[in-house]
Amino acid sequence: MWAALAAVGRDPDTGGYRRGGWTPTEREATHWFLDQCATRNLTVESDGIGNLVAWWGPSDAAGVVTGSHLDSVIDGGAFDGPLGVVSALAAVDLLRAEGFEPSVPIGVGAFVEEEGSRFGMPCLGSRVAAGVLPASRALALKDRSGVSLAAALETAGTDPAGVGPSPLLERMGTFVELHVEQGRGLTAPVGVASSIWPHGRYRFTFGGEANHAGTTLMEDRHDPMLTYAMTALAANKQARLAGARATFGRLSVEPNGTNAVPSQVTAWLDARAADDATLESLLAAITKQATERAERDGTTLEVVPESVSPVVDFPAGLRDRLVDVLDGAPVLPTGAGHDAGVFSAAGIPTAMLFVRNPTGISHSPAEYAEMDDCLAGVDALAAVLKDLAK
Ligand code: GLV
Ligand code: MN
Ligand code: MN
Repeated sequence: MWAALAAVGRDPDTGGYRRGGWTPTEREATHWFLDQCATRNLTVESDGIGNLVAWWGPSDAAGVVTGSHLDSVIDGGAFDGPLGVVSALAAVDLLRAEGFEPSVPIGVGAFVEEEGSRFGMPCLGSRVAAGVLPASRALALKDRSGVSLAAALETAGTDPAGVGPSPLLERMGTFVELHVEQGRGLTAPVGVASSIWPHGRYRFTFGGEANHAGTTLMEDRHDPMLTYAMTALAANKQARLAGARATFGRLSVEPNGTNAVPSQVTAWLDARAADDATLESLLAAITKQATERAERDGTTLEVVPESVSPVVDFPAGLRDRLVDVLDGAPVLPTGAGHDAGVFSAAGIPTAMLFVRNPTGISHSPAEYAEMDDCLAGVDALAAVLKDLAK
């Protein structure tokens, strides 16, 4: 399975993956998933936005759902998302080979546009499914070429009218997502999640005055790039002071010419912290410094939150049950977002398993996990599913 998926959406120059939601490469990965489910005689259910759950089980009652996502960040690694889907299918194979007969159904899920790399909204599919992102807002989201989600769905042959809270969640009695760990926090092969840090994405628009790079005196300029540059430094400093994270990873410059002072810089801040209050005060501190600098530069600043997700503490009872099944596996929080966080916040008993990441690198072509650890992850997931579905 891993080998079959390896080539799908891989950029030959960087080795990274480009599987934005509803792009041809992401659709190819989704078709691969559907083929795998058909081979295993799993019954696939889909919702209006295209989230999928493939069922193995004795009935059409609620059951235990596992799985993850097949989309990637721009130039992402092989593991973030696909490891959870492949491991889920492999765990089902293992349980069947053992002759295990679940007393409640086991579902393997693949949830769309988890990274938000195309439409800017992380966990887009699960947010819509859980009803926390209204269909009208979701359908109006646009990608960088100005294509709306509604138009992208139509191109993919999906009727946008069906987008909304998902019936799939009614059968999600429990959700367990296996994921590659995305820092260096896990030294054992497999761990269990305690919580997901709160996470916000904010759009900073710096407005200035376009002018000639050669003739405009330095003191006469209203250069939004300067305001942005100082804001990026301030974000880094404030995050360090707060023990938090702040990243400007995406920038758009108008008119983006070498010999002109820009008229506008748009920069996206990704900020995360261990608790909601720290995240709020981090954003306030960065915004304050940016505003003061804009006054000095004679530029303007607008800050728009595009998505804000509060802290998720996974239910302790389920977490401890996983730790028991896995003979005392380590427990750790994560700064990465996951559909598991959305489902947990929606009231579905949810847990996560992490597979060790030896370098801690993620959201990069260099993301990696050892095959032995991935296989330990499959064994762990199978043991957990067996416990929850016995
Ligand atoms: C998703 O992986 C995120 O944490 O941004
Ligand atoms: Mn990710
Ligand atoms: Mn992921």
